[in-house]
Amino acid sequence: MAGLNDKVALVTGGGSGIGRAVVEALVGEGAKVGVLELSPEKVEELEALGDSVKAVRGDATSLEDNEKAFSETVGAFDRLDVLVCCVGLWDNQAKLKRLPKEKIDEAFDEIFGVNVKSYVLATKVCADALIESEGCIVYTLSNSAFYPDGGGPLYMASKFAVRGLLVEVAYELAPKVRVNGVAPGGTATGIVGLKSLDQEEPMLASPKMQEALKSINPLQAEFAAEDHVGAYLYLANAKLSKGVTGVIINSDGGLGVRGLSKVAGLL
Ligand SMILES: NC(=O)c1ccc[n+]([C@@H]2O[C@H](COP(=O)([O-])OP(=O)(O)OC[C@H]3O[C@@H](n4cnc5c(N)ncnc54)[C@H](O)[C@@H]3O)[C@@H](O)[C@H]2O)c1
Repeated sequence: MAGLNDKVALVTGGGSGIGRAVVEALVGEGAKVGVLELSPEKVEELEALGDSVKAVRGDATSLEDNEKAFSETVGAFDRLDVLVCCVGLWDNQAKLKRLPKEKIDEAFDEIFGVNVKSYVLATKVCADALIESEGCIVYTLSNSAFYPDGGGPLYMASKFAVRGLLVEVAYELAPKVRVNGVAPGGTATGIVGLKSLDQEEPMLASPKMQEALKSINPLQAEFAAEDHVGAYLYLANAKLSKGVTGVIINSDGGLGVRGLSKVAGLL
């Protein structure tokens, strides 16, 4: 398939995990892809993907770095059709009870800066070009944009905030730009928690955690980053989803149809 031939995308947080899988899938569909990524090592790894990728090192919470990623992407590939936001930090399940009160200020700013403000900045910086190309935006949400216990209050609140952003921007940018989201369930990636809470060790990729995540969803699915890319490609491709805006695809093994007495009917 080459459903995105001649299309140009910008992916924020595309250096690893779900974002990196999306970058590779977009390239596989024929797109040219700019990436805004904080880690210099991951930027170097992205450069190895060749001429279809323009990797820009920068901080997605900074307006200037979003502007740099946008202008370098358009400078390299002449246009912009798709913005995908994948940047994100988790809170390693920091429940209210365990959240030290003196750290809330800093932790709130850290997680809302990365998980919410970066999405607002990328959207603002790319909006005019996307209006011109009649393109689309795909945000990354989470099961935590729908159901409790996929994080603590800070992560949950940040993902619900992206849901609000999505609804408003989908309204404001219609009829020119479609705005949708993907809400993955727990996935084996190296996502890290918050510096402000000393949570820089990844927790999600351990076999024990994956086994636990699998047992709670009706499809008993264990997810790698690649398992979500089909949802992104569908939303990014106007030939497949031209009438779809303001929608979130839940790629989580069916958490919305979990039973109370048993997780899944056949079990
Ligand atoms: N892994 C999961 O279980 C899961 C579940 C639901 C939703 N998500 C969401 O998926 C998205 C991607 O997460 P992932 O699991 O692939 O983690 P990841 O850590 O592999 O990917 C996030 C990427 O963003 C980059 N990044 C972080 N802060 C940045 C910043 N300020 N500026 C630029 N780049 C920055 C990281 O270096 C990394 O490459 C996040 O929004 C996360 O909340 C993940």
